[in-house]
Amino acid sequence: MKKLAFKHKLNFVDSELKNLKQKNLYRKMKYGIANGSKITINNKQFLNLCSNDYLGIPTSKIQIKQLQSSSRLVSGNDESYRKLEEALAKHKSHQNCLIYPTGYMANLGAISAIAKKGDLILSDELNHASIIESCKLTDAKISIYKHNDMQDLNKKIKQKGKNKFVITEGIFSMDGDLSSLKQITEISNKSNAITIVDDAHGDFVIGKDGKGTPDHFKVAKEIDLYISSLSKGLGSFGGYVSSHNNVIDLCVNKSKSFIYTSALPSFLVEYSFKRFQSNREKQKRKLVKNTEQLTKGLKQVGFEINSTSQIIPIIIGDEKKAMQFGNFLFDSGIFAQPIRYPTVPKNQARLRISVTAWLSGTEIENSLKIFEKAYKKFYN
Ligand SMILES: Cc1ncc(COP(=O)(O)O)c(C=O)c1O
Repeated sequence: MKKLAFKHKLNFVDSELKNLKQKNLYRKMKYGIANGSKITINNKQFLNLCSNDYLGIPTSKIQIKQLQSSSRLVSGNDESYRKLEEALAKHKSHQNCLIYPTGYMANLGAISAIAKKGDLILSDELNHASIIESCKLTDAKISIYKHNDMQDLNKKIKQKGKNKFVITEGIFSMDGDLSSLKQITEISNKSNAITIVDDAHGDFVIGKDGKGTPDHFKVAKEIDLYISSLSKGLGSFGGYVSSHNNVIDLCVNKSKSFIYTSALPSFLVEYSFKRFQSNREKQKRKLVKNTEQLTKGLKQVGFEINSTSQIIPIIIGDEKKAMQFGNFLFDSGIFAQPIRYPTVPKNQARLRISVTAWLSGTEIENSLKIFEKAYKKFYN
């Protein structure tokens, strides 16, 4: 009897899942073991074209120490944090830095700590889910401006707000284009607004010494809060915010995703530090070379590529077709996941290819032969 009642109560879950399947939006995880440019799934090796370990820094050895399983404000604040936070603050030419367990939590924590009721947040329509959720936590008025559209930003920033914030990604995670940071900072400054950049995909990857998208556009000094992930360019784990001393102090005191959670394990902090100090420049050069080779090759095959970074989306549109495209690549030995709603807008499903320095020129060449077959199958 009890069992039946339980089943009945959860019937709505079944229909939600059914609904997702009908719309081709159902997601299922695959288990894999990554090794350099390859990934093994169910004992079969694939070329990995969807890793965010952009720089492909050869694995650093770390010692797994006793974990200080506690919040950083209690006893989890291992000495290793000091070194990495100092190095990252310097890397961003900011006064201070605060590491969170993930980039997602860094966004949640920092944005909700600094913006509140009565404020105005201007957010790019293609900003990452973690930014969207962070804005909702603030009780501020949220105004979405058209993607990278400076006219629209200029118009919307005139709305009332006690404090005003402009939030954008540096390199957009699903389109691979760069935000117009020079114009954004100019518009922001004119309205005395605070500029926040989530540079999860540009950090360590572009700009001098991998200082990120603001450095690339020579506006690093104009960025008030820089938010990033350690799990992309650096290929480690964690997230951070760099800013003025007072902002970081406020984050320590107000970020719920910092206060009410356990600290990132110290061996991961040390791992990030080792990778930060490695020869990133050499890996960066390799990444640029690989990106150029794959972008050029895909264009020659016939695909329309508008990305200017290591994130190369092939826009397919229809969700079902995107799944079929992904399955075709998978059956041909390439692992590259189709991305669908709600990660991207409806009917804008795509194959998101991410280039890493792990790939060799020959591997890219071989993958292009498969992309050529895919193009003939799905575009002719
Ligand atoms: C733009 C952006 N911000 C934040 C995050 C979250 O970073 P993390 O994976 O460290 O939580 C991601 C990850 O996908 C991202 O693409």
